[in-house]
This record gives sequence, structure tokens and C-alpha cells, in this order.
Amino acid sequence: MSFLQDILAKGQSLLKFTPAVNSVVGIDIGTSAIKIVQVTRDGGKIKLETYGEIGLGSYANDKSGKVVTLAPEVIAKAITDLLRESNVTTKNAVISIQSQATLIFLLELPEVKDSELATLIPNEARKYIPVPLTEVSLDWYVVPKAEFYVDEVSSADSASAIRKKNEVVVVAVRNETLSQYAQIADKSGIVSRGNEIEIFSAIRSVFHREITPTLVIDYGAGTTKVSIVEYGVVRAYHVINRGSAFTSESLARSKGIDFDKAEELKKTVGLTAVPGQEEIAKAIETDTAYIVSEIQTILMGYERQSHKSVTKILLCGGGSMMPGFLEKISQTFGVETVFGNPFGKAEAPQFMEPVLKKAGPEFTVAMGLALKDFV
Ligand SMILES: Nc1ncnc2c1ncn2[C@@H]1O[C@H](COP(=O)(O)OP(=O)(O)OP(=O)(O)O)[C@@H](O)[C@H]1O
Ligand SMILES: [Mg+2]
Repeated sequence: MSFLQDILAKGQSLLKFTPAVNSVVGIDIGTSAIKIVQVTRDGGKIKLETYGEIGLGSYANDKSGKVVTLAPEVIAKAITDLLRESNVTTKNAVISIQSQATLIFLLELPEVKDSELATLIPNEARKYIPVPLTEVSLDWYVVPKAEFYVDEVSSADSASAIRKKNEVVVVAVRNETLSQYAQIADKSGIVSRGNEIEIFSAIRSVFHREITPTLVIDYGAGTTKVSIVEYGVVRAYHVINRGSAFTSESLARSKGIDFDKAEELKKTVGLTAVPGQEEIAKAIETDTAYIVSEIQTILMGYERQSHKSVTKILLCGGGSMMPGFLEKISQTFGVETVFGNPFGKAEAPQFMEPVLKKAGPEFTVAMGLALKDFV
């Protein structure tokens, strides 16, 4: 999926050009934890070197699993600790940009020369961006028609009508955010190979050959990222301002237990029928219902607009590992639902496979970042 590189490789401020390297560490800065994955290219193979995670709660004198906001230098300290603890052997790093700091949308534009797009896109994008354009960096990707339309249109008339349009995926990131990421990279002692918005990394690590509309749910601690991807192109993208940490918080509050205990119950009981824990599962169910209903709205909006159906759901993010969550999603939407398996894209000792499969959903973004230069 070359566009994932193209989208940030247009010479705009989101990517620095650096010479080719053989080993890269992907650094996913989440709201509750940082996850890293290091891979090495060895001939035609990609080898998993190491991976690791560090909770951010303690860096804010708070509990593990809590959603925290930290200054760039504190995040840099956590990265340094994690790289050391995980025995990372490279300084080359790609760092994720959190979705909350970005806007991603699709524009339909008349067919014009590439040079004209550079003027047309900012003009059109202005309508979607709630802050002055001088405060954001824009990047875009023109959806290739060959991949997208020509095989789908039936009559010659509609084919020519469609060819006169350009579909462009546009990404906007606040300059202030980019400068914070630059500070983090600077203070962590890594050699930055650029940043990438987390959804694009997730797609790289968990997609194989899916071309039909696929729903990707990244159920994180702070937010839930929902996207619909078709032919490798993000057709819809939404951030639900609620994540898995909310469930622990509300469980702790409603049951009068501490946050750690609530985290534990979420991970052991979740949505399942554990004898004696029915009330816990019921409380978790209520929170989860909100997320599921938001996803449903996004899905229905897409299906109504595109006249297409989502045929597969990929789950990632730590929250998706909650017992019973996959089943809940699968039953609600009635389509094949699987966990993303990012480690499947790299070679690792066989004995590690079960562990990696289980840890996969949490490392989706970190793995995609690490693979950015290699696939
Ligand atoms: N087995 C599990 N069952 C339920 N929840 C889990 C499980 N494992 C992890 N989680 C939850 O997943 C969340 C962490 O997931 P993840 O690492 O994907 O979040 P993050 O990347 O820090 O957050 P965000 O993507 O919102 O910035 C925490 O809320 C944690 O409690
Ligand atoms: Mg995350």
C-alpha cells in the first residue's frame, strides 16, 4: 500500500527525508501507555527484534492504566526508559501522532493538474478545518482511480463522469502538535524518521489483501478510533471521545472500588458471564453499549452514503481485548470480526507466537510505524 508512504512523503512538514536504514523502532505514544516495536530488515525478511510497553500513569504520579496528559520532556523520559528496558538497539525511530490532534477527511474535487491541486485543496479543506489554515500543516493523497472506480462503474457514461473527479484524502495536523512531537523526538535521543498518524500505521500492520470495506476499531484507553478502509484507502474516520479507561473509572465510581481493582475486573470479567460477577458485567455492558452505538452510527452513515456494506471488522487497541468484546461486536454487526495480528508481518521465534498473538492488538500502531520504511 504505497500511499501510506506517499501520504507523508510529499515533502511537507510531516516527514523528514533520511537515508535508508536496516533497523527501525516504532514508538506509539498512547494516552495511557507507550508501546514500541523494533524490526530489522535482513535481506528480504523482516525480523522482530524486540517490543515493549510502559504505562504513563506513574509519570503523572497516577495509577497505571489512567489517561494522562504529559509535557513533551516527560514523554521523552518515558520513551528513554522504555527503549532501555526493552533493549532497543537502534536510534532510528518513527513516532505516531495521536488522532485527537488530527483531522482526516475526503474531498471530491474536479480533475485538475497536480500543480493546481496545491491551491485547490487548501481552499476546499478550509471548510472542514475549524482553525485558521496558518495554524495547521496539510498533507493529501489523491486516490488512484484505477484502484478505486474503474472496476466498479458499469456504464461508459458514469465511468467518464467519475473520471472527471478527483478523490483526495486530506490530513490536517496542528503546527503546535508537530512542534511538540519534534520536542519529544529531540529530547528522547532518537533519530527521527518522521511521524505518522496512527490510523495509517494501524492499516499497514494489520491489513493483508482486504479490498472490500473493512471497519477498523482501535479501542484505546482515552479514545476509540473508528475507520472504514477500502482498497487501502481511509474512506471514513472518526474519533469517539471515550476509551477503555472510562469503563474502569466509571466501574470504580459506581461500585465504590479502587481504579486498580476496576481495571482488573474489566480484564477478567469484562462482558462475560462470570458467576457472582453479574453486576460487574452489567455495568461494563452499559459503557460498552455507548461505544457500540457510536460505531453503529458511523457504519450506517458510511453504508448509506456509499451504498456498500462493511464486510469485515478488525479490532485493535488494548480495550478490544476485554473478554466478550469481540463477540459483542461480531453479534451486533453480523460480519466477520477478528483481532488485528500485527506481529504476523515479522519473523519471530516460533515459541513466542502465542504471546505475540495475544499482545497483538495493543501493538498494532507501534508495529505499523516500525514497518513504515520496509513495506
Ligand atoms: N485484556 C484486557 N481487557 C480489557 N481491557 C484491556 C485489556 N488489556 C488492556 N486493556 C485496556 O486497554 C487500554 C490500553 O490500550 P492501548 O494501549 O491501546 O491504549 P492507548 O494507546 O494508551 O490509548 P489511546 O489509543 O486512546 O491513546 C487500557 O484502558 C487497558 O485497561
Ligand atoms: Mg492507542
